[in-house]
Amino acid sequence: MNNFEFYNPTKILFGTETIAKLDSLTPAGARVLILFGGESARKNGTLDEVKSALGDRPIFEFGGIEANPSYETMMRAVELVRSENIAFLLAVGGGSVIDGTKFVAAAANYAGEPWSILETFGQHIESALPFGTVLTLPATGSEMNCGSVITRRETSTKLPFMSSYVFPQFSILDPTKTYTLPTRQIANGVVDAFIHVIEQYLTYPAGGMVQDRFAEGLLQTLVEIGPKVLATPEDADLRANLMWVASMALNGLIGAGVPQDWATHMIGHELTAAYEIDHARTLAIVLPSLLQVQRKDKHEKLLQYAERVWAITEGDEDQRIDEAIRRTVAFFESLGMQTHLSDYGLDQNSIDLLLKQLEAHGMTALGEHKNISLDVSRTILEGAL
Ligand code: NZQ
Ligand code: ZN
Repeated sequence: MNNFEFYNPTKILFGTETIAKLDSLTPAGARVLILFGGESARKNGTLDEVKSALGDRPIFEFGGIEANPSYETMMRAVELVRSENIAFLLAVGGGSVIDGTKFVAAAANYAGEPWSILETFGQHIESALPFGTVLTLPATGSEMNCGSVITRRETSTKLPFMSSYVFPQFSILDPTKTYTLPTRQIANGVVDAFIHVIEQYLTYPAGGMVQDRFAEGLLQTLVEIGPKVLATPEDADLRANLMWVASMALNGLIGAGVPQDWATHMIGHELTAAYEIDHARTLAIVLPSLLQVQRKDKHEKLLQYAERVWAITEGDEDQRIDEAIRRTVAFFESLGMQTHLSDYGLDQNSIDLLLKQLEAHGMTALGEHKNISLDVSRTILEGAL
C-alpha cells in the first residue's frame, strides 16, 4: 500500500428531518447565500424548508445553476457574493449546484483570474468561503469531497479542480428529498457512483486489502440496489443506502493509498462538454471500451473484480474478464443507460473533435500508468462507437 494522508472534515447529518439542524450548523447572524439549480428545489418545497430553518439570518438567493455548472453562470454568483458581503454559502441541490458553490467559495477570495483555478486544477487556492450543502441527488460524492468540475461554455472546456479548502463544512443527507428525482437521474446516480469506485479500484494490485474490500462492497451494494431504487422510488431504506453508497464512493476513503485511473472521467468530460450528454451516461459509454483496451494492464484486478463482484469463476482468464465486462455493460443497460456513441448519433467525426479537445486540455497521458495517449484514447472511443 502507498503512503497516504487521509482527512475528511465534512460533518454528515443523515436522515429525515435533518434540514431543521441548519440553524445550529450555520453561523449565527451570517449573511447567507443559498445556491440552487433550476426549479426542482423550489417546486418540491426543499428551498422553503431550508429558508425557514435559517430563521432570521439575512438570506440571499442565487438560482439557475445548470447541470454541468458553467463558469459564466458561477461568476455572476461570485459578483453577488462580493457586492452583498456574503459570509456563508449554502448549496441546495445535486453535484452541479455543489460543484458550482465550491467554485464560488474559492473564487470569491482568489487573487488571480478565477478561470485559472481550473487551469491549475486548484493548486493555488489559498482560502475559500465556508459553505454547507443540502444534497438532493445522490451521485457525485461532491457533498463529502474537495473536488469540483466546471465548464467554460465559450470554449466547451470542462475541467476539474481540487483543494482541501473546498470540503463542505457540513452536508445534510435526507433521503426523502430524493423522492422527486426522475428515473433518469437516479440511474445516473447509480452509474456515476459505480464508476467512481471502479476508477479507484480497477487498476493494478497495490496491497490495499481494506480499500479493495470496501470498494467491492460498494460495487455489490450498487448492483443489488440499482434496479430496485428505480422500481420503487419511495422506498426509504433503498434511497438511504443509495445516498450513503454514493457519498462513500468518492469521499477519499477507498482511494487512499492505492493507484487511481480517472481516464473514463476525463474522456467523459469531453463528451459532456461537446455534446451535452449527462455525465454518468458518458461514463457508461467510455468505461466498457476502456476496460477492453486496457485489459492487459488491468488483468489481475479484472480477474479479482470478476470473481468478487460478479462471482465469475468458470472459464479461462480471458473468458472471465470478457464475462465481467459483459455483466458490467448489462448492468448499465438494465438501468436504461445506452453504452455506445452511436446511440447518441455520434460517429468517427465526433471522435476527431473529442481528440482535439483532449489534446487542448492536456489530457494526453491518462490512466493509472499515464499510458493512455491520444492514440489510445482514439482506440477507446472507436471501440465505443
Ligand atoms: O436544476 P434542477 O431543477 O434542480 O434539476 C436538477 C438537474 O436538472 C435535477 N434534480 C436534482 N435534485 C432533484 C432534481 N430533480 C428532482 N428532484 C430532486 N430532488 O437533477 C438534474 C441533474 O442535477 P446535477 O446536479 O447536474 O446532477 P449530478 O448530481 O449528477 O451532478 C453532475 C455534475 O457533477 C459533476 C459532473 O461532472 C456534473 O457536472 N461531478 C462532480 C464530482 C465531484 N465534485 O466530486 C465527481 C463526479 O465525477 C462528477 O464529475
Ligand atoms: Zn463521476
